[in-house]
Amino acid sequence: MEISNDIIERIALAKSVAVLTGAGVSAESGVKTFRDPDGLWTKMNPQELASVDGFMNNPELVWSFYRERAHIIDKVKPNAGHYALANMEKLFPRFELITQNVDGLHAAAGSTNVRELHGNLIDNRCFDCERPFKGELPEDELPRCPECGGGIRPSVVWFGELLPADAMQAAEFAALNCGVFFSVGTSAEVYPAANFPFLAKRSGAYLIEVNPNETALTPFADAALRGTSAKVLPVLVENIEEFRNKSER
Ligand code: OAD
Repeated sequence: MEISNDIIERIALAKSVAVLTGAGVSAESGVKTFRDPDGLWTKMNPQELASVDGFMNNPELVWSFYRERAHIIDKVKPNAGHYALANMEKLFPRFELITQNVDGLHAAAGSTNVRELHGNLIDNRCFDCERPFKGELPEDELPRCPECGGGIRPSVVWFGELLPADAMQAAEFAALNCGVFFSVGTSAEVYPAANFPFLAKRSGAYLIEVNPNETALTPFADAALRGTSAKVLPVLVENIEEFRNKSER
């Protein structure tokens, strides 16, 4: 993977960097994406599995989907792309990592202060009283809130729900104020997350896409690094460090 000196220089000289990640970043850890040919939403219906109506209509089905995903996430490990992003945050005075992923792999790789726009699959809470649920999830029945008896749900954001206000504010601030914005491993099709690269670009940021495939964002990107995140991101970090070392000499 060759990245042009021009791109590396722009990144290396930036004071503020923001990164938006999507499911593609975890693909090489063994977590399925949503819209690739073997993605989850090519075989399953997001309205049934990832919406409040879906949960109200058939909580058993929704829980069987999330239980299986939680079991997968329990076993998988961060990949070289996650580790490269954890290293990247040490290279810039201001660095914001915004993710649509719910698998916790950025934090597991050592990234601090990850902004989880779509919540996470590790925490659960009561659908009715909103209290966090800390117990073990039963395997063969629906989890119930010990306080109010309400149904327990995973702390992910479903279609039609508001995104967490603190993560949204941090993401918006980062997009408005960064010099370089990366969109990594996301199809850039789900809003409001997909709006942040555009916001950054309109505010003057250099927009870089890291993805093996073209996306809806590609025509607007200043640079597209075509490759998987586990291959591209470590090279990027290495090149930034080399550039800085050379400049110091
Ligand atoms: P998608 O499945 O829509 O897109 C995954 C992207 O990752 C595609 O553009 C792929 O080309 C790219 N990709 C695949 N393998 C890759 C790799 N190894 N390295 C880098 N990129 C790779 O996933 P998201 O954009 O994350 O929301 O989807 C956004 C949201 O839609 C998710 O957060 C989820 C889903 O519905 C909710 O559940 C609310």
